[in-house]
Amino acid sequence: QQKIKSICCIGAGYVGGPTMAVMAQRNPDIKVTVVDLNKQRIADWNDADLSKLPIFEPGLDQVVEEARGRNLFFSTEVDQAIQEAEMIFISVNTPTKTYGKGKGMAADLKYIELCARQIAEVATTDKIIVEKSTLPVKTAQAIKSILDHTGNGVKFQILSNPEFLAEGTAMTDLANPDRVLIGGEQTLEGKKAIQALVDVYATWVAKSQILTTNIWSSELSKLVANAFLAQRVSSINAISELCEATEANVEEVAKAIGMDSRIGPKFLKASVGFGGSCFQKDILNLVYIAKSLGLNQVADYWEQVILMNNHQRNRFANNIVSTLYNTVSGKKIAFLGWAFKKDTNDTRESAAIYVADRLMDERAQITVYDPKVTATQMQGDINYLNTRSESENKQYLETETDPYKALEGAHAIAVLTEWDEFKTYNWQTIYNNMSKPAFVFDGRNVLDKVELEKIGFIVQSIGK
Ligand code: NAI
Repeated sequence: QQKIKSICCIGAGYVGGPTMAVMAQRNPDIKVTVVDLNKQRIADWNDADLSKLPIFEPGLDQVVEEARGRNLFFSTEVDQAIQEAEMIFISVNTPTKTYGKGKGMAADLKYIELCARQIAEVATTDKIIVEKSTLPVKTAQAIKSILDHTGNGVKFQILSNPEFLAEGTAMTDLANPDRVLIGGEQTLEGKKAIQALVDVYATWVAKSQILTTNIWSSELSKLVANAFLAQRVSSINAISELCEATEANVEEVAKAIGMDSRIGPKFLKASVGFGGSCFQKDILNLVYIAKSLGLNQVADYWEQVILMNNHQRNRFANNIVSTLYNTVSGKKIAFLGWAFKKDTNDTRESAAIYVADRLMDERAQITVYDPKVTATQMQGDINYLNTRSESENKQYLETETDPYKALEGAHAIAVLTEWDEFKTYNWQTIYNNMSKPAFVFDGRNVLDKVELEKIGFIVQSIGK
């Protein structure tokens, strides 16, 4: 049985970086090299100052400190790393296509294909290729075809090993996964490759937690897991609107249904809507696959999860406008939070971006405070929507690095991310410095509504 000594991971992003850091930490005898085309990203991963790592995850810095330079390396020398490795993880981005067939729905597999071609060109020894990126079911077939037709006659085995970590809790998820899923070809060679990867994980994950399946089940399971998770959010959000119309309280409803062991208590928090790079992209991808196969009812069913999420974001923004006497033009609206969830600096598909865009259409003056997101990132996010010119975006969207300054003089505060620190602020001081009436729109239901109302705020939460 093959014992892996050298691993390469292509893509040093939110998944490649933390996953490989933990793999290297737990396997000191395996050399792990993470490569990326993005020179700045690699330089940041190599920065002696650990606060400069390109992504923020609680606990990541310690793991990097322990393994980096010992058996964990970050590099831009992609060819060399491919050459050396016996096992290659592909962890590049797979965004939604923005052009051509499947535009706005299908996954763009351009980066995956480029990786496959590069591996084929460079490899002179047999390799196990591991799909770490989230991919449409049947992608392994395409990768195999490219490798076999353009390679140097060496043998490739393809495995699917989707990543289930959640941003913000990536390090504990990786150290203690609910399960590790490995799919591969059900041949002798395929099973050997699966076993080689099982052995890498088995140094820290219990065998009972490592599932092995055929490759298509593994690829599909990742899309399905994200679809189910997002569906729970949209389901409770749909109920939140019903609660607001009926004086039911969504938190009480969530608790009541969550105690049913068939439903379970987790992931039932109503909010302004889900964000993140994955949920929307992966559901759209699932919908696209279903449509391509002529399964229109299946496609419509899952698409509704996205439509509900869009509705929830719009509803939140529209409610701010109507509550502020139907005009927010020239009014300062302060945002607490821009990241798509707490404990991450990732802003991809964050609800904050869409709510800001909607309010900027109404010519509101937005000032944002987020403990981990930079002004440059926020401008980039809003410019990416292409709704108005960059100079107009600059004019309507400002960033403050001090929360009290961000909230000073505001007509309304909108909570868009559930950062814990928001609960610890001196809300009396904030109230004193705001325009009156002082409105709070709590898009994450994190603030103490009763306390705030005692101070004098007018508070609107989700589903209450
Ligand atoms: P990311 O965008 O943070 O990182 C991808 C990296 O790949 C970038 O740094 C990019 O420069 C690099 N790259 C692209 N093409 C390359 C090439 N040919 N050679 C070398 N480097 C190349 O993306 P992220 O968030 O890490 O996602 C990666 C995959 O993992 C996606 O398929 C995503 O759906 C999946 N995933 C993401 C999760 C998350 O929480 N972000 C969780 C689970 C899966």
